[in-house]
Amino acid sequence: MGLFDILFKKKCDILSKEAIVLGLENTHDVEVFESIDSTNTYLKTSVKTKKNSFTIAIADTQTNGKGRMGRSFYSPKGSGIYFSILLFPTLPPQNCVFLTTAACVAVARALKECLGLDTQIKWVNDIYCNGKKLCGILTESCINTNNGTVYFAVVGIGVNFKKNAFPKELSNIATSVEECARLTCDRNSLICSIINHFEKIYNELPNRDYMNEYRDKSFLIGKNVTVIKADTSFPATVIDINEDANLVVQTQNGDIETLFSGEVSLKLK
Ligand code: BTN
Repeated sequence: MGLFDILFKKKCDILSKEAIVLGLENTHDVEVFESIDSTNTYLKTSVKTKKNSFTIAIADTQTNGKGRMGRSFYSPKGSGIYFSILLFPTLPPQNCVFLTTAACVAVARALKECLGLDTQIKWVNDIYCNGKKLCGILTESCINTNNGTVYFAVVGIGVNFKKNAFPKELSNIATSVEECARLTCDRNSLICSIINHFEKIYNELPNRDYMNEYRDKSFLIGKNVTVIKADTSFPATVIDINEDANLVVQTQNGDIETLFSGEVSLKLK
């Protein structure tokens, strides 16, 4: 690699608000932070000052990146894509899961568009490549207790972009864009592509056509898993993802169980 390539790559590797605003198909409020605790937490705690759906917060590093089930999301500087989208959806609370599934399809489409990369979706919120996790999505919502509607939701997306985006000890379960594809696009372009795809799906969300794509890309359908639910766990085979984005499994005694994303985690066998 020549000096020009090195300098060019380094320059393109810098998160740029200008580049992101230019690459978005629609005009949105975009904030880019060098460092923040968590882009999800930032949008949740500043929601009163933000009026627009699709307000976007992006960070080069997070000091307290969050994952599902109270886990943390390792977010080292310059290595990943960490951003959140604030939404004011008119959805019943139980349908917030469709924000997560829409974001999964948007990420998969963007990886294909920008890098030619084929990925799979691990119900309910992870993107996989070569059997390892490449991206995680965390949707958090706030319910208006007066009328039971969703006041706002924050969809947070974390993509391992560079090889060092996760600790070495996770290398048997995590991967990065750099390990799966030639880095023919920078982080700014991938962020824009994800947001543009997400917005298209979001604007037609009552129409769940995209769920066919979600199912087609499923990493789990047909696989044997261990279902971990409250303080029990049991082996099962994944059969389908139903209309409500629940996972349908068959237990060893032949029973069919429907699993809600909020209450279970899964281990591949
Ligand atoms: C998971 O793997 O369980 C979900 C990970 C979600 C990580 C993203 S990074 C941007 C946003 N801010 C956070 O604190 N979390 C999400």
